[in-house]
Amino acid sequence: MKYISLEEALDFDRQRVIENHRQFCNSHFPDYLALLNFDKTYPRAEGMCVWDSEGTKYMDFLGGYGSLNLGHNPPAVIAAVKKIWDLQTTNMMQSGLSALQAGLAETLANITPGKLRHTFFASAGCEAVEGALKTARIASGKPVIISTQAAFHGKTFGALSASGREKYKAPFEPLLPGFEQIPFGDADALENRLKKNDVGAFICECIQGEGGINLPPAGYLTRVRELCDKYKVLWIADEVQTGFGRTGKMFACMHENVAPDIMTLGKSIGGGVVPFAAFISTPEVWSKAYGSMERVAYHTTTFGGMATQCAASLAAIQTYIESDIPQQAADNGAYVLAKLKTLEAKHQMIKEIRGRGLLIGIEFKTPGGLMNKVAKLAEIAQENLGAMVSGIMLNEHHIITAYTLHNPTVMRLEPPLIVTREQLDAAVKALDDALSKHRSFTSLSVKSAQTMLSSRFSSK
Ligand SMILES: Cc1ncc(COP(=O)(O)O)c(C=O)c1O
Repeated sequence: MKYISLEEALDFDRQRVIENHRQFCNSHFPDYLALLNFDKTYPRAEGMCVWDSEGTKYMDFLGGYGSLNLGHNPPAVIAAVKKIWDLQTTNMMQSGLSALQAGLAETLANITPGKLRHTFFASAGCEAVEGALKTARIASGKPVIISTQAAFHGKTFGALSASGREKYKAPFEPLLPGFEQIPFGDADALENRLKKNDVGAFICECIQGEGGINLPPAGYLTRVRELCDKYKVLWIADEVQTGFGRTGKMFACMHENVAPDIMTLGKSIGGGVVPFAAFISTPEVWSKAYGSMERVAYHTTTFGGMATQCAASLAAIQTYIESDIPQQAADNGAYVLAKLKTLEAKHQMIKEIRGRGLLIGIEFKTPGGLMNKVAKLAEIAQENLGAMVSGIMLNEHHIITAYTLHNPTVMRLEPPLIVTREQLDAAVKALDDALSKHRSFTSLSVKSAQTMLSSRFSSK
């Protein structure tokens, strides 16, 4: 049987990587990336920066969709994982107890707000969401789960059922029964729905990430807490993307000093080095869900809580606290948001710039007037505006960004929280230059079409 060795794979040139992805992975993914020249390989990475196979340096303002709060290859986290290998301890031993899980669970209970105390370890954000939904359903004894329009909770069946964009849901129907959506940020809509008394849980992000970096009105989370208490409904706060300092507090619900009954964690919980996730609940919820010998194995997973995952997480959280990463995100976020806001008036393409901490969205205007009458053009704009500006940021300014999945007219800035003011200034200048050069949807489209055509010919 023929195999590829690690050394051979490391030596693959870009063309071989593209070809193998076409043949053996998601066939159209390389072509999709190639449309705007995103089909690069990045053999080197350090902190805020990555280098492609030609040696060109890029600043990463995408930050692993929030997984890289400490940047690429953070030394303290890498050292923690290496320590586990050096110790030759058990990385996986499900039929025993783990000191590292014990230490990390205590840490999570300490750093999360309110009464959150019992942690279940998982490997991906969607898995944390699945566990939270199951826990809420069994603990509440009521069937209905309410979530918010445009929400993103992941793409497994439960998480997808709670998410809010038809494009990604419709092809997989029927989804799970008992899920309903209400507008995000609308506490009255929540109360109206809770009055029926059949709702077990309400799940929301504290700031919607993939929905387009949507901030709720001030006081929303406080009302969510009050309403969930009033109607005896469990509140699940999905902090997979907003957690670990991203929005300027350790967790985004802390901006309103409120705590959910269940919180989901992912992405930067693993320090950007290991795939890791968790959900944490109050003792009351936990004991209702799993509080007997018979129930201990109601929810399990093979990989959650491996020694390498826990070690990475312990080291990452120590760094978040000791370097006061949430405060850095708050200060630098306020700094860059103020600078970005000055671009709103200058560039007619910008509809709004919004965000909190270093979770920032730039929403572009879809073309108006005559252009919009051409249905296809309006649709292209709706689906591609964020990506087209990201393409220009990448190809002309060497800055990596991306659109938000459930609102593609928004380009996000979500850099590692270790980003410097100089790097933030450079990103603002790049965006200013890009929008000065490409002042309209037409100019952006022409440039993007040129990139698409040239990438088609150069990668074949
Ligand atoms: C708020 C939120 N929840 C859940 C998820 C799903 O996480 P994963 O992609 O690790 O399954 C994401 C991913 O972007 C997210 O942003």
